[in-house]
Amino acid sequence: MLILGLESSCDETAAALVTDDGRVLAHRLAGQEAAHAPFGGVVPEIAARAHVEAMEPLVAAAFADAGVTLADVDAIAATAGPGLIGGVMVGLVTGKALAHAAGKPLIAVNHLEGHALSPRLSDRELAYPYLLLLVSGGHCQLLLVEGVGHYRRMATTIDDAAGEAFDKTAKLLGLGYPGGPRVEAAAREGDPFAVPLPRPLKGAAEPHFSFAGLKSAVARAVGHHRPEDIAASFQQAVVDCLIDRTTRALAAVPPVTALVVAGGVAANGVIREALETLAAQHGLRFVAPPLWLCTDNAAMIAWAGVERFREGLTDPLDSPARARWPL
Ligand code: KG4
Ligand code: ZN
Repeated sequence: MLILGLESSCDETAAALVTDDGRVLAHRLAGQEAAHAPFGGVVPEIAARAHVEAMEPLVAAAFADAGVTLADVDAIAATAGPGLIGGVMVGLVTGKALAHAAGKPLIAVNHLEGHALSPRLSDRELAYPYLLLLVSGGHCQLLLVEGVGHYRRMATTIDDAAGEAFDKTAKLLGLGYPGGPRVEAAAREGDPFAVPLPRPLKGAAEPHFSFAGLKSAVARAVGHHRPEDIAASFQQAVVDCLIDRTTRALAAVPPVTALVVAGGVAANGVIREALETLAAQHGLRFVAPPLWLCTDNAAMIAWAGVERFREGLTDPLDSPARARWPL
C-alpha cells in the first residue's frame, strides 16, 4: 500500500509518500521561516499564499524522489485541520483535486492524529495503548492512544501551548523566531535555578497544563537577569510542569506499553531526557520519533492515512477544512 500525504496547517508545506510497511519513499518540506521572521510569529495570510506557491512543486518533487506516479498511489491523505484555515484549505483542496483526477480515495486527516500516530512509523514495535505527550506550538495534551480513532484526552492546556510559551519567551528575550531551538541554545549557557519562576498547576488534582503565568513571570524577569539564566530557568519550569502533569496522568490511565512524546517541542533535548527518566522510573519504554518526524511534516499525515486506510476509513470529496477539530 502506498499513500501520498499532504500537510499545510501551519507554516510548513509538505508532501510525502509512505508505504504500509513504514518505508518513507519521499518526504519533501518547504518552511516559511524567512517570510514570518520579521513579524515574530506566523502570519496566516502570508502562510496561505506561501502554501499555494509551494504545494504543487513539492508534490511533483516527492513523486520524482520516489520514482512513482499518482497512478501508483492507493489513497491521498491530506490534513483537514485543525490549523490556520487558509493553509489547511490549500493542502486539502490539492488532495481532493488529485483524488478526483486519479479516481483514488481521499483521507481527511486530523493533524493531531498525525502527531499521535507518528511514533508508530518510526518505531514499528510500538503497540497500543500508549500514553502520548503531544507538545507543539499549538497544542499541549496528554492522550491515551488506544487505537486508530480511539484517543482519550487526559489533559490539555487551559491557556498557552508549551511551544507557544517557548516562542513568546524567545520574543521577550529578543532571540527571534522560531523560539524553541533558540531558547534551548541560550539555556545551555544559563543557570536553570537562577531565576525564581512559577510552575503553574504543579501538584493540582486536575491533569491540565497552564503556561500563561509562566510567560508573564518571564516578562517581569527580563532586564533583571541574564537572558541565558532566564532561558534556562524558563526551560526548567516547563520541564517541571510537563513531568508533574505526565506523572499524574500515568497514575490515572490503565496499563500502557510506553510513554511517547511527539510534536515540535519534543525536539528539546532537556525535555526528552526528563521524560526518558520518568519512563524508566515507571518501567515503561520511552519512544520519541526522530526530530524530523516530531515537527510538522507530511510523512506523519501519510502514515495516519495508512492506519486509517487499513481500517477502511476514507472520506468524501466534500469533507470540510476545519480551523478547530478536537481529536
Ligand atoms: O509540531 P510543530 O512543528 O508545529 C505545531 O505547532 O503544530 O511545533 C512547533 C513548535 C514551536 O512552538 C517551536 O518553538 C517548538 O515547537 N520547538 C521547540 C524546539 N524546537 C521546536 N521547543 C522547545 N525546544 C526546541 N528545541
Ligand atoms: Zn504540528
